Amino acid sequence: MARLAGKVAIVTGGAKGIGRHYSLALAAEGARVMIADIADGADVVQEIATRDGADRAASFTFDVSDEAQVKALVAKTIERFGHIDIVVNNAALYATLAPRNLTEYDVETWDKVMAINVRGPFLMVKHVVPHMMARKSGKIINITSGVAYKGIPRMLPYVTSKGAMTSFTRALSRELGEHGIAVNSLAPGYILSDTGLSNTQHVEEERVKVRNTRAFKRDGFPEDLTGALVFLASSDSDFVTGQTLLVDGGSVNT
Ligand SMILES: NC(=O)c1ccc[n+]([C@@H]2O[C@H](COP(=O)([O-])OP(=O)(O)OC[C@H]3O[C@@H](n4cnc5c(N)ncnc54)[C@H](O)[C@@H]3O)[C@@H](O)[C@H]2O)c1
Repeated sequence: MARLAGKVAIVTGGAKGIGRHYSLALAAEGARVMIADIADGADVVQEIATRDGADRAASFTFDVSDEAQVKALVAKTIERFGHIDIVVNNAALYATLAPRNLTEYDVETWDKVMAINVRGPFLMVKHVVPHMMARKSGKIINITSGVAYKGIPRMLPYVTSKGAMTSFTRALSRELGEHGIAVNSLAPGYILSDTGLSNTQHVEEERVKVRNTRAFKRDGFPEDLTGALVFLASSDSDFVTGQTLLVDGGSVNT
């Protein structure tokens, strides 16, 4: 049975990489999905329309770090689908970020990573949560990363931003519990997304090393994450909040 029938989800960064798989997985479980990305999401909308029927998805091109654009996204989603039940804070500066030693990172890069990876999710919840509060329910899923626990070198702004999102999840869950809103993190291990594979330097530095740290000694793929995402988005997780679910083949143990 479709576990998300009648639900409306926004997936930030839902047009490409892992986010595309999240958009497809939520729609497959019956949700109507707003694909919100700085990249064009029209192809994913078409993919969902062909598989699940027209009017099951829409796309909105925006910059998650810009408050006016986040407000416009939320207004458009309400106008199009009527309400918002699920937000997946997935958009981040990741695949396009080249690994560097700390002294080689400039302030502009640091600030840009924080603006997209941390301010972005803050703006999303700031503008979506009032709509969830009015319905006394909601599921917020923050995409963090196993690197927040491992503290890998040469990605300092990125790792710091994902650590921030882990604390953001904990604090926000305490604030929103009384409104019936669940806030959890999904923390993937190293995943061979199509966009991630384009970061060839990072692939060379991480792929084999990470595989060897896992209980399951294989690569991870976007499809490995979608079951955990649907669990956190559905009523199956209704007594779960403030948690981080690591999906990494058994690399980090919690
Ligand atoms: N691939 C991995 O190994 C891995 C591991 C752990 C966590 N993650 C996290 O999973 C998520 C997706 O990663 P991915 O591998 O698909 O990489 P990615 O870099 O391709 O994903 C980022 C998505 O966000 C979008 N985006 C970027 N800047 C934006 C902006 N300013 N406004 C709106 N959208 C913007 C991109 O267009 C893209 O669709 C990210 O949060 C990443 O940190 C990835």
